[in-house]
Amino acid sequence: QELQLNLEQIEKGGYEHFMLKEIYEQPQVIKDTYRGRLLADQGIIKLGGLEDHIHRFINAPRVTIVACGTSWHAGLVAEYIFEDWARIPVEVEYASEFRYRNPVISEKDVIIAISQSGETADTLAAIKLAKQRGAFVYGVCNVVGSSISRETDSGSYTHAGPEIGVASTKAFTTQITVLTMIALRLAQAKGTISTRDYMLHLRELELVPTYVSEALEGDGKIQEIANVFKDAANFLYLGRGYNFPVALEGALKLKEISYIHAEGYPAAEMKHGPIALIDEQMPVVVIAVNSNHYEKVVSNIEEIKARKGKIIAVVTEGDTTVKELADYIMEVPQIPEALTPLVTTIPLQLLSYHIALMLGRNVDQPRNLAKSVTVE
Ligand code: G6P
Repeated sequence: QELQLNLEQIEKGGYEHFMLKEIYEQPQVIKDTYRGRLLADQGIIKLGGLEDHIHRFINAPRVTIVACGTSWHAGLVAEYIFEDWARIPVEVEYASEFRYRNPVISEKDVIIAISQSGETADTLAAIKLAKQRGAFVYGVCNVVGSSISRETDSGSYTHAGPEIGVASTKAFTTQITVLTMIALRLAQAKGTISTRDYMLHLRELELVPTYVSEALEGDGKIQEIANVFKDAANFLYLGRGYNFPVALEGALKLKEISYIHAEGYPAAEMKHGPIALIDEQMPVVVIAVNSNHYEKVVSNIEEIKARKGKIIAVVTEGDTTVKELADYIMEVPQIPEALTPLVTTIPLQLLSYHIALMLGRNVDQPRNLAKSVTVE
């Protein structure tokens, strides 16, 4: 047993938990994911599985993404970038709903299935259904040789390495990395992105590992924030645009490992319900980085303040407006808006980790959850 314990310690590489190790691995695994596929200087994105079938994507009337859990959130981010750059309509579906509702799918459709484990039963069933109807199915999986990677017509692996913590972290950011590369390549092939924007995003994507490392430097401050709010009964997470899915993911991370009730919402929808929950007990995590929606998010923050809610804001380094309004801030580096989910996710992962740890939860193996859900 002692040997077993030591082995586990070695696997954790000096970190107290797998989850923390995996959070800190993100600069490296994002690099592993784009290595050899992204040649920013030459303006090249080359994903083998995509090049062989690019005409299927270009001729598709739309792309349907199927996934569960955190992978579904990565799909939502992809919806924004595919539509913005590649001008392809995208639907994002929970695999469990898609498989049972007689979806309208035909031979021209392209389905992207996203799955860390490659074994999720609902996602696998959704793929089988889509294939029966003649659609082309593309996989974005982490586990090499997994059922989903074998069942799909083609695909791209994320190279996140083994993810042990039940709450997904590095799988999410590497999924977004792959999906961003796919979107950029399709946009280039379709001519729907300017050369300037294409080159800019290639170069910035290559710098993401550095930006993620910078975001990780906020860890100490995030621990202090965790300490202030660890006893809250509820949390609200708000984001807009590309960061709406990040708000959902932040709330999911907190629920999964700390068992605190948390809800993610698109910031502007707050007035249609969640605003009723806000009082001085309610921490509200707002993603308020530089974006097209910045001014709007600022007014959302003012609405929360007027109701005495506590604001924890994720802001761009050097921000002054939100800094003055918020009770606490978590800073991330400046990066083009479409790539912000790759950095805004980091402080939210750390916040949930520290709160769960302070509450004495089993961070790596939260109650009632499984790493891979191979049953319905
Ligand atoms: C489980 C895991 C989540 C994961 C989801 C989908 O619920 O606990 O972390 O996001 O399954 O898993 P997949 O392997 O398909 O990405």
